[in-house]
Amino acid sequence: MTAGSGPGPRAFHLPVMCREVVDILAEAPEGVVVDATVGGGGHGAALLDRAPHLGLIGLDRDPDALGAAAERLAGYGDRVSLHHASFDALGDVLDELGHPQVSGCLFDLGVSSAQLDRAERGFSYRLDGPLDMRMDPTSGVTAADIVNHADERTLAVMLRRNADERQARRIAAAIVAHRPFATTAQLARVVAEAVPAPARRRSHPARRTFQALRIEVNRELEILEKALTAGIDRLVGSGRCAVLSYHSGEDRIVKSVFRRAAGEVPPPRPGLPPAPGSKATVRLMGRRSRTPSESEMSANHRARSARLRAVQRLSDDQRPQGDD
Ligand SMILES: C[S@@+](CC[C@H](N)C(=O)[O-])C[C@H]1O[C@@H](n2cnc3c(N)ncnc32)[C@H](O)[C@@H]1O
Repeated sequence: MTAGSGPGPRAFHLPVMCREVVDILAEAPEGVVVDATVGGGGHGAALLDRAPHLGLIGLDRDPDALGAAAERLAGYGDRVSLHHASFDALGDVLDELGHPQVSGCLFDLGVSSAQLDRAERGFSYRLDGPLDMRMDPTSGVTAADIVNHADERTLAVMLRRNADERQARRIAAAIVAHRPFATTAQLARVVAEAVPAPARRRSHPARRTFQALRIEVNRELEILEKALTAGIDRLVGSGRCAVLSYHSGEDRIVKSVFRRAAGEVPPPRPGLPPAPGSKATVRLMGRRSRTPSESEMSANHRARSARLRAVQRLSDDQRPQGDD
């Protein structure tokens, strides 16, 4: 098969809001775009097809994803280079590659379908597998390490912070009472039993617990601000940065990093005027996040929670003077 932007032979992951993402990044100036979460390479392939003036540096912390991306992007030759790295090391990776500046960056956050659908990765409450959840299975603590060793209060705080879980205290108490855990099915069963019947109606009772654990294991919220800031700092010319997020905790961080880079500083107290900001280095490409079309949401249920935000770097003569 030639390189292209169709679903690909392994249907590793269906890229979300692909046309909207490519519309943003294809207008980046000539150079290299860093896809900080290259996954199966779906967004990357679509971008390279549309924008012959761009190359792609793809990062992923999951070696399986890099294998799928290598297969998918093989036909683009030396326009593509792929690297096993977490995006919080983005600046270092770009420096080592001799590409300190880039024309664009893309962060498509969260997990891929391939990660969720493989029982042995331990991400899914629907499939029985080891309680792992590491995106990079070569390092770091597993979900089992956390549920078997964290104290009850720490578990409850994590469930609330990472997934807005309303039943956090009940679930944390049930986890402590039933540990040790080794498998996803064991944990999903104990969580389901801990959640009162009315709270089970909207979605699977273990959905938020699994989300919270995955975020904790992979330090997803902890590293996002640093990575986005580095991505923006490395833009050159009228470069662009696009981010797809999938839950409110992520979107809050994206919005705040983007607004700060756009020179907007929230007022110190509600009702007061905004505090004087630092100089804007980017403009927001739209004040509100964009969401997928109805048809995409019905065709791909994993797209339903997606929000897309983007910024464009301001050239030196577009930057406001003396505003800090
Ligand atoms: C939603 S998928 C990306 C799919 C991709 N856009 C595509 O079209 O196939 C998210 C990917 O980001 C990777 N990932 C998550 N956190 C990461 C991090 N901190 N550094 C690098 N990759 C990360 C995951 O391993 C996963 O492969």
